[in-house]
Amino acid sequence: MFFVRQMFGQAQRRAFSVSARQSSKVAVLGAAGGIGQPLSLLLKLNPRVSQLALYDIRLAPGVAADLSHINTKSVVKGYDPTPSGLRECLTGSEIILIPAGVPRKPGMTRDDLFNTNASIVRDLAKAAADAAPDANVLVIANPVNSTVPICAEVYKSKGVYNPKRLFGVTTLDVVRSSRFISEIKGTDPADENVTVVGGHSGVTIVPLISQSRHPDISGAQLDALVNRIQFGGDEVVKAKDGAGSATLSMAMAGARFAESLLKAAQGEKGVIEPTFVDSPLYKDQGVEFFASRVELGPEGAHNIYPVGKINKYEEGLLEACLGDLKKNIQKGIDFVKANP
Ligand code: NAI
Repeated sequence: MFFVRQMFGQAQRRAFSVSARQSSKVAVLGAAGGIGQPLSLLLKLNPRVSQLALYDIRLAPGVAADLSHINTKSVVKGYDPTPSGLRECLTGSEIILIPAGVPRKPGMTRDDLFNTNASIVRDLAKAAADAAPDANVLVIANPVNSTVPICAEVYKSKGVYNPKRLFGVTTLDVVRSSRFISEIKGTDPADENVTVVGGHSGVTIVPLISQSRHPDISGAQLDALVNRIQFGGDEVVKAKDGAGSATLSMAMAGARFAESLLKAAQGEKGVIEPTFVDSPLYKDQGVEFFASRVELGPEGAHNIYPVGKINKYEEGLLEACLGDLKKNIQKGIDFVKANP
């Protein structure tokens, strides 16, 4: 409860004034999954959400019936796994979250998920582009470095691509970073803010410790921290021993990102989240998408910040990131070209 209060306490008080004039429909695709269920729960507790639309290939009406008994104002509806069910779920949505797809098992990289998740995300993106072309699309399904370009290609092919409305959710890397750095320094993670740029897998995850409150972390301690942030997901995959990857921490991160977008859409200024977007920062090096700090606004991505001042160590991390990222992005683009 403390956590929910921490996340939504302030928002709740403010939302009494906003909810009267703004109603926000949020759709979750893959709502019955490990991430989908707790994510939907957190969205049901968010007073900025007026309608919660849940879709999955199984069990979405059940999850919706369960959540609908919670005594918050929003209306929850689960949709049948049919094309018309999906269309109805998406129509009128302001935000569409996509945690649909298979998670990792021990020993797998996020890229190993490509073959299954690429077509799932492509098909959901097609439906979203048709039913709600102006919605903000938040891609959680991995590999994010490739699934975001897949969405972009689908939207482009339908002539409705708006780069400001497509986001790869990298919030969990930021959440983990502040937690891990607080464990080293014995601080409150709520006071720690680590910018993470690049992509969302392995070496494409680039935490900028020099810009944090603790630029003094160096040597083996820095190596270990960076490695833990880059491969933090593996700790969960290993501990769950074949039963999946991060779901609860991811649900929290996804709900935080959705909340930030809703705040920005409802007029709050200065809302900044690192996220993986169509970005001008490294396009000259052939990298079309890149995660950096992005100020959110009513139009989606309002302002994309450059990475800022980084040190030699981080330059090395960034170089390794860009090489991998370019390949991951191209893989997504090629997939849609070959499998439209
Ligand atoms: P899960 O297997 O528990 O749930 C996935 C859900 O998607 C299932 O309920 C399944 O029925 C549904 N689904 C499958 N195909 C669908 C379709 N065509 N339409 C609608 N729903 C469909 O998996 P989990 O743990 O929830 O993970 C979901 C995805 O999120 C994975 O790809 C995982 O790698 C990714 N993930 C992303 C993170 C990030 O930081 N961006 C962090 C953790 C996981």
